[in-house]
Amino acid sequence: MVLLAAGALLFAAAVGIIWLGNKRSRRERSEILKIGVLIYKEDDTFVSGIVEEMKRQFKDYERESGSRIRLDFSYAEENQSIQNEQIDKYLSLDYDVLCVNLVDRTEAAIVIEKAKSADVPVVFFNREPVAEDLQQWDRLYYVGSDAKESGTLEGLLVVDYYKKYPEQLDRNQDGVIQYVLLEGESRHQDSLIRTEYSVQTLVDAGLILERLDGGIANWVRSQGEALTTQWLKEYGNEIELIISNNDDMALGAIDAVENWHISFSNIVGIDGTPQGVAAVESGKMIGTIVAGQEDYAKVLLDLAERAAREETLDGLDIREDKSVRIPMYSINCDGEIRRLEESRKEEN
Ligand code: BGC
Repeated sequence: MVLLAAGALLFAAAVGIIWLGNKRSRRERSEILKIGVLIYKEDDTFVSGIVEEMKRQFKDYERESGSRIRLDFSYAEENQSIQNEQIDKYLSLDYDVLCVNLVDRTEAAIVIEKAKSADVPVVFFNREPVAEDLQQWDRLYYVGSDAKESGTLEGLLVVDYYKKYPEQLDRNQDGVIQYVLLEGESRHQDSLIRTEYSVQTLVDAGLILERLDGGIANWVRSQGEALTTQWLKEYGNEIELIISNNDDMALGAIDAVENWHISFSNIVGIDGTPQGVAAVESGKMIGTIVAGQEDYAKVLLDLAERAAREETLDGLDIREDKSVRIPMYSINCDGEIRRLEESRKEEN
């Protein structure tokens, strides 16, 4: 028994020594910090906007924070195996932290395992791992927008529009709003939740709805155009509202409407991309929800650095589930801006 116990103790000590040996030493701000940013595909408008912002902001960020950073980007062609290889590469090159825009949000466990065994923190963003995955290790975080909030704000855009211009929305004056719905990727957390809350907000406000059709256009403008064209052929003037899970598909719907040579702008989107906001400003859409790409980039750089250098995360507004949610607001074709908090206050 004594021998066994001594053996167990020795083993535990050896494991501890190996673990300590693997543990990276904390890096000071004067030392260069290597950040690897992994993106699910190259031509996603919203995510590209975040990438551009990171590139644009990081010199200023270095100046303001007094740190030295090296930032590298990889694109995974929508293939999780490619992204996993890219992660292996960054880890073998001794990167200090990874910002990961997962291809498949249900495949986070493999990524986490790799990062954990190399003791490299991960900041996931925009494509959210399931809650249990984020709890697997204390050096994992998520930066994203709140899908429920964006869906609710999108619904409120329509509610407000209806209050102001009822006859423009209910075009046939039958007391029912006939709508179609453009949905993002089926595996993306934002698709289902945005759909649910945008529609529910309309119902809660007392609007009577009839869903003519809906379909998945995978966030992509050309797919949004194709589906809308199909619906215009099938339902024509019956369509009174097009709800889109993001701006790019809404822009696709505008393309279809323009090709169809009709005057129709009862379209709402989410993201607030420059193209989306321009469409709202020129009256081609009722409105959009701005989930600031600038803010995303700022939080990503800051959180990645602090996580890697093992500094305090105070002031970053991290929720209990280890996520930081980017604030958002809606903007409509009359130039009005609104945040959810304000809407709630008005209701009470
Ligand atoms: C955005 C989409 C984008 C997707 C990519 C969503 O949150 O609204 O525009 O294509 O993220 O993951």
